[in-house]
Amino acid sequence: MKIAVVEGDGIGHEVIPVARRALEVLRPDFEFFPVEVGYGKWQRCGQAMTEEDMEALKSADAILFGAITTPPDPDYRSVIVQIRKTLDLYANIRPVSGKGFDIIIVRENTEGLYSGMEKIEKDSACTVRCITRKGSERIARCACRLVKSRRELTIGHKANVLKSDVFFRDICIAEAQRANVPFRECYIDALCLDILQHPEKYDVILTENMFGDIVSDVAAFLVGGLGMLPSGNLGDRYALFEPVHGSAPDIAGRNIANPVAALRSAAMLLSYRANDRTGAAAIEEAIQQVLARGIRTKDLGGSATTTEFGDQVIRELARRSRT
Ligand code: NAI
Ligand code: MG
Repeated sequence: MKIAVVEGDGIGHEVIPVARRALEVLRPDFEFFPVEVGYGKWQRCGQAMTEEDMEALKSADAILFGAITTPPDPDYRSVIVQIRKTLDLYANIRPVSGKGFDIIIVRENTEGLYSGMEKIEKDSACTVRCITRKGSERIARCACRLVKSRRELTIGHKANVLKSDVFFRDICIAEAQRANVPFRECYIDALCLDILQHPEKYDVILTENMFGDIVSDVAAFLVGGLGMLPSGNLGDRYALFEPVHGSAPDIAGRNIANPVAALRSAAMLLSYRANDRTGAAAIEEAIQQVLARGIRTKDLGGSATTTEFGDQVIRELARRSRT
C-alpha cells in the first residue's frame, strides 16, 4: 500500500512521525511519501495546498494526516474541509472506548454548516445548513452497517428546532428500519450531557456534520482528552486517518503532545483500509502496555515526552513482531 503522510502544522510534526514509525515496524511492505500542505506552506508560498498536492493525495491508497493550523485570512478555505469534499470522504468515524463503554460516533462529513455556503455582510452574517437526501442516506447506511456487528443506533439531532434535522432524522430512521437495526433518537444537547453521565448506554451514534464534531470533543472527556481520540474519514474510493485534535499551537514544538490519537489513527488505517486487524490490535495493546507502566504525557498527568512515549510503543511493537 502507498501511504501519503501529511504532518501538517504544529504538533502534527511531532505525533505523525510516531504513527508512521508504528506502521513501518508492522508493515515493512508499505510505501510512504510526504505531502506538505498547511499554514507553514501558506506562509512560504501563499497557498496552503496546490492542485499537485491534491493529485498526490489521490494517488495514495490511504492518507495519514496530522492537523492544519487555520491561517489568519478571511478568504482562506479550510484545507481539511477541502480534502474531505474533493475526495468525497463523507463518513467521519470516531471511536471512543474505555472501561465499560465502546462508542463509535459516525459524523456526516461533507454537508451541513460546513457546506461553505455563507457570507458576511456589514451588519449580518449567514451560513446555510444544507442537508441532502443523498448525503443523509449514505451516512445512515454506513452507520447501520456498523450497527450490524454491534448493538444499537442512536440518532443525535435537533429536530425540535431545525427543519434540516427533521429531514435528516426521518431519512436516518427510514434507513435504520430498512436495515432492520434497533435505533433510538436523542436531542443533541441532551446527548452531550448523557454521554458523559451514562456512556455505557451508547453504541453507534449518528449525527450530521457539526453536531458530530462537537459531541466527539465532548466524548473525549471520557478517555482523558483530545490527545486520545483517532478518526477515519472514509469515502467510497479514498480514506484519510487523523487524530480528532487540531495542531495545538499552544504546545507545539515542545515535545509534550500525546501521540496516542495519532497512533490509534494509524491503527484505524490498518483495520479499515488494509483489513489488518492484527496490526491494529497490536498498536492498541502496545499503547495499553506503555500506559499501564505509568508512562504518560503531560495531558494525562505524566511527564513523558512525545518521543519517549513513542519510543516505548515502538519498542513494544518491535518486540511483538520478533516473537
Ligand atoms: P486543538 O485540538 O489543536 O487543541 C485544543 C486543546 O487540546 C489545546 O489546549 C491543546 O494543547 C490540547 N491538545 C490537542 N491535542 C493534544 C495532544 N495530542 N496532546 C496534548 N494536548 C493536546 O484545537 P484548537 O486549539 O481549537 O485549534 C488549534 C488549530 O488547529 C486551529 O488553527 C484549528 O483551526 C486547527 N484544527 C485543525 C483540525 C484539522 O486539521 N483536522 C482539527 C481541529 C482544529
Ligand atoms: Mg473538531
